[in-house]
Formats: sequence, structure tokens, C-alpha cells
Amino acid sequence: MRTDVAKALDIEVPIFAFSHCRDVVAAVTKAGGLGVLGAAWMTPEELEMSIEWLEKEVDGKPFGVDLVFPGTGEDEKEADEYLASIPPSYMDFVTGMLDEAGLSDVAADDRDAFMADNAQKMTMTNEKSARQLKISLAHPSVRLIVGALGVTPKWVVEEAHAKGVMVGALVGSARHAAKQVEVGVDLLVAQGTEAGGSVGDVASMVLWPQVVEAAAGVPVLGAGGVSRGSHVLAALSLGCQGVWLGSLWLGTAEGELSLEARDKLFQAKSEDAVIAKVMTGKQGRMLRTPYVDAWQAPDAPSPLQWPMQSILNGYSYMRAERAHELDYWTYAVGQVIGDMQRSTTVKSEMTRLLDEYVEALEALETRTSLD
Ligand SMILES: Cc1cc2nc3c(=O)[nH]c(=O)nc-3n(C[C@H](O)[C@H](O)[C@H](O)COP(=O)(O)O)c2cc1C
Repeated sequence: MRTDVAKALDIEVPIFAFSHCRDVVAAVTKAGGLGVLGAAWMTPEELEMSIEWLEKEVDGKPFGVDLVFPGTGEDEKEADEYLASIPPSYMDFVTGMLDEAGLSDVAADDRDAFMADNAQKMTMTNEKSARQLKISLAHPSVRLIVGALGVTPKWVVEEAHAKGVMVGALVGSARHAAKQVEVGVDLLVAQGTEAGGSVGDVASMVLWPQVVEAAAGVPVLGAGGVSRGSHVLAALSLGCQGVWLGSLWLGTAEGELSLEARDKLFQAKSEDAVIAKVMTGKQGRMLRTPYVDAWQAPDAPSPLQWPMQSILNGYSYMRAERAHELDYWTYAVGQVIGDMQRSTTVKSEMTRLLDEYVEALEALETRTSLD
């Protein structure tokens, strides 16, 4: 299954892993796939440290960096301005909910320092992305830059290409795919609505071939709902050149979640990965918890716009995690959550996907006949 895109990136198998956690990125790359580090929540300094760490870990093998390019930059504000734009009534709503649930609070000074720090993390400006891009392109092991939201700006494609680095973009519709191709991206990640994180409305089975068509020869990776080798076979059958997975790694020992949080995911079913605007203010798929339900109650305020909603949520999650009361927490996760039942490792998941792919292919050959 070494497709053209795998050859272009010099990887053994076209399994791409999105993760905010550098240990996952390193482990996937070491296992022959391509790890892509989600840098949205990192300061440029944190990103630089992570890339340096990764370069040592993967010993010359390639990996990627996923950045957010927020748009035109016209309405951009600084982190402290976003923080100050959170209406006091929203803080009261969240504080009231957590107090009622008996979750202990932190001292006002600690809370304010935490919120200010979280505002820095959650604020994504073009200026921050430009610095992150420059840092990424200064490291030769970074072979792929991926844009997470909206049309990738032309200057990103030009800067990356000047260093011989490929550019990819996430899309949730054929229309968006065509726009990205016009800008000159080298790779499209067609992400169906089954996925965790920000999602569109079209399911992978319908979306993947539509994006393959719109891509007019630009390679496409199938994303959203991939957790089995048979899904990999399906993606390749529908014209994709590989797969891009995000949720599956949340259940691995290398991932960013505590054992407690992972256990919460393992107890959930596919139906518990719901679409809401609770996490970021934008439509996204996440774990349904009482916290998500409270925001969707008829008398609850509408979620704030991005990034204010993410900044506010940081406060709730901090209290929930300290109190070990994860009902007041949530996390981006897709429908594959129903396939995730126990803690695994990246290596074992990579091996399983490949073994299952071969089994699915053989079973298909046995089940079908052309005469
Ligand atoms: C916890 C989590 C965080 C995510 N954050 C981002 C992000 O910052 N940028 C991005 O391009 N995609 C993000 N995604 C989406 C993934 O890149 C990927 O497209 C998606 O997880 C694929 O579907 P799956 O969840 O069914 O594997 C996130 C996904 C998850 C599960």
C-alpha cells in the first residue's frame, strides 16, 4: 500500500496521525507512518522545543506540523483583549455550575493567572502562525505543513515550497477542496463529519470520492471515522492515497490524556461523540458529558465565539481535572470512540491497522468474484 504520496514523503505506509502530543507524533513516524504535530495551542517557543525534541527522537525520519491560519487578520485581537471580552455573566454561568456540583475553586489570583495563560494558548493570530511556520520550516525533518481551518493563505504555500516542503489542508466539502487546489496545496485531507474536532456536515463515505474528484489529481487522504484496517481499505478503494487519523491516538499510552480521561473515553459509545459548539464556539464533535448538556440546556447562554469559548472552557476543565470530576470536562473525539475500549500503544495500533488491512483485502478477494 505504498502510494505515490507515501513515496513523495518517503514513508513506508500512508498512515498519517494528527496529534497535539509529540510522543504520538514520534511513535507514528518511527512506526513508518507520518506523525503531524498539532501546534494550534502552542506558543512559537513551545513549538520550537517540541520540534527539536522530535528531530532527535525520529532520527532523520519525516514528520509534519499542523497550523491554524485564522483568515484575513483584519479583526485580530491580542489574547488579553479576547479574555476581557468574556462577559461576566458567562463566567457566572460556569462558576455557578461548578460550585453547584461541589467542585472546589482556586484562589482568584491563581484563576486569573491561569485564564491569562490559557488565553495566550487559545488565541491564534496570523502573526503567531507566521512565526510558527518560520520555526517549522527551519527544521529539515518537517516535510509537511498542514492548514487546519479555512483556505490556506498563498504566502504559506509559497514559503513552504521555497523550502521544498509539501503543504496540506483539511477540507470538509468538495467546494473547499477546489479552493485549496487553486491556492496550490499538494495534499488534501478530506475529513468527514464522523471526525473529532471541528467538522463539516458530510460523511466520509460520500465526501472522500467527491474530494478526490474535485482535487483534480492532487492526492487525498481519507479522514473521519478511521479506526480499522477495513477503513483503510475503504479509503484506498474510494480513491484516497492514504488515511489521516486523530481520535484513535487518544486511547494510547503515548497520548495527552490521563488514564482517568482515557477510561472515560473507553466507556463511551459512538453515539456519545456529539456535534456542538461548546468546545470552541465553532461546530465540532466532542464527548457528550453533563458539561456539554448543561451548555445545551434551553436556558443556557449560547456558546461564545472562538476563541473566547475555548478560553472560558479552560477554567472549567482545570477545576474538573483538579477535582477528578470529569463530568465537567469534555474533549474533541470522533465516532470511532465506539471502537476504542482499552488502553493501547501507538506501535500496537499501527501493527493492528496494517494486519487488519491485509485481512480485509484477502477477505474481499475471497468474497467477490468477477465471473
Ligand atoms: C483531540 C483532537 C483535536 C484536534 N485538533 C485539530 C487541530 O488543532 N487541527 C486540525 O487540523 N485538526 C484537528 N483535529 C482533527 C484531526 O486532524 C483529524 O482530522 C480527525 O481527528 C480525523 O478523524 P477521527 O477523529 O475520526 O480520526 C483534532 C482531532 C481531535 C480528535
